[in-house]
Amino acid sequence: MKKLVFCLLFSLLLSNAYGQFDVNYDEDKVPEFKLSDPLKSFNGSKIRNTKKWEKKRRPELMDFFSKNIYGEVPGQLAISSVEILEESAEAINGKAIRKQVELFFEKENKQIHFTILLYLPKQLTPAPIFVAYNFYGNHTIVNDVNIIISEAWAKNNPSFGIINNQLTEQSRGARSDRWPVEKIIDAGFGLAVIYYCEVDPDKDDFSDGVHPLFYVDDQQQPAEDEWGAISAWAWGLSRSMDYFETDDAVDASKVIVFGHSRLGKTSLWAGASDRRFAGVISNNSGCGGAALSKRRFGETVWRINRSFPHWFCKNFKNYSKNENALPLDQHELIACIAPRPVYIASAEEDLWADPKGEFLAALYATPVFELYGKKGIEHTIMPPVNQAIHNTLAYHIRTGKHNVTDYDWDQYLKWAEMFIK
Ligand code: GCU
Repeated sequence: MKKLVFCLLFSLLLSNAYGQFDVNYDEDKVPEFKLSDPLKSFNGSKIRNTKKWEKKRRPELMDFFSKNIYGEVPGQLAISSVEILEESAEAINGKAIRKQVELFFEKENKQIHFTILLYLPKQLTPAPIFVAYNFYGNHTIVNDVNIIISEAWAKNNPSFGIINNQLTEQSRGARSDRWPVEKIIDAGFGLAVIYYCEVDPDKDDFSDGVHPLFYVDDQQQPAEDEWGAISAWAWGLSRSMDYFETDDAVDASKVIVFGHSRLGKTSLWAGASDRRFAGVISNNSGCGGAALSKRRFGETVWRINRSFPHWFCKNFKNYSKNENALPLDQHELIACIAPRPVYIASAEEDLWADPKGEFLAALYATPVFELYGKKGIEHTIMPPVNQAIHNTLAYHIRTGKHNVTDYDWDQYLKWAEMFIK
C-alpha cells in the first residue's frame, strides 16, 4: 500500500513537472471567460468610426501589446550598409532572379548582420513579394547550390545535419516541401527569406542577437517592458522592409509578411507594428499568435512563458495562469492589422495551437474590418476542413498536422492574387 501511494505521488509529481495537468484538449473544459470588445475602449467608450479606432482604440491596444506581451523596441536603428553578396538571372529554371543581400547594423561598437535571399519573377518588375523567416537557414528552402549557408548559431538537430550549433550542407533543400518557390514565381510573386537566428538566436540568452546593441551602460538584458525574441524578429522584418523600399525590383507597397508557428506569431506582431506591410499571413501560430489566450486550450500563457522565457517581454509572465487579468486578447492583435488583409490558418491535428481559438480570434476581429467596409469572417461556426474563407480577413483549417503544406500555399497565392496584387 505504502509503495502504491508512493508510486502514485511520484507519477503525479512527474506529470505535473511536465505540465500534463495544464494542457487541456477538451472543449467542455474550456473555462468561461469574457472577451474584450475591440470596439470599446479601456475606459468603456464606444468606438463608432475608423477615426476613433485609429486615434484612440488602436493606439491603446498596441501600447498594451507592446509593453505587456511582445515588448517594446528600445530605439531606432537604420541599416548601416548593404552588400549584394550574389546575384543571378538564371534561377528556378530560368524563371527567376536570385539575389542574396546582406544588411549590416552597428551601434555602440556592436554589430549584427543578416542576409535576405530573394527570388523575383523575371517577367514582373517591380514584383509583389512574400517575406518570411525560416527555421534552419536560407539554404534549406530550395535545393540550389548557390545559396550561402549562414554561419549564425543554430539549435542542434542531427536530422538537419546540425551539430555544434552550425548549419551544414546536409540540409540544403531539406525544407523545400514548405517553400514552393517555383509556384510562387509562376503566380507572379517574389519570395524573400531570412534565417531567423541571424537576427536573434532562438535561445534564452540576451547577450546575443540584436538586443545588446540597445543596452544602456551595463545593462545585461531587456527591461520588463522591453522586447523579447518575437519583437526582435519583427524588428528584423521591418529592417528588411527598409531595404525593399530601396530595391527597384521589389514593389514595397505589396509586401506580405508570412510566418509559421513561432514565426507566425512574429508575422502578426510585425504586421501590426509596421503598417508598411500590405498583408499578413499567420500559419498555425497558436498561443501568443492568433489563438485566444483566455481559452487556455492546448498551449497556455504559463506553458509558453515557461518553455520559451525569451520569446515575450518579462511583463507577459504576469499573465501566466492569470489570463483573465488580460484587458485584451489576440483577436485585437488581428484587429490592429485592419484594414490590411490578414490570413489566419490552422491545421486540424494541431491542437496544441488551438485551431478553434485561432478561428474565434479571426471572427472576433471582424467588427474592426467591417468598420473599414471590409469583409471579415461572416459565419460564427468554423468552416469545414479544406474549405477556405477568402475575404480581406481570411481563414482556413486544413487536414493534417502542424506544418506548411501545398494546400496552405495554394490558398495564400489565390488570396494574395485577390487582395494584394
Ligand atoms: C512549440 C511552441 C509553439 C510554437 C512551436 C513552433 O511547439 O510551444 O508555441 O509555435 O514550437 O514554433 O514550432
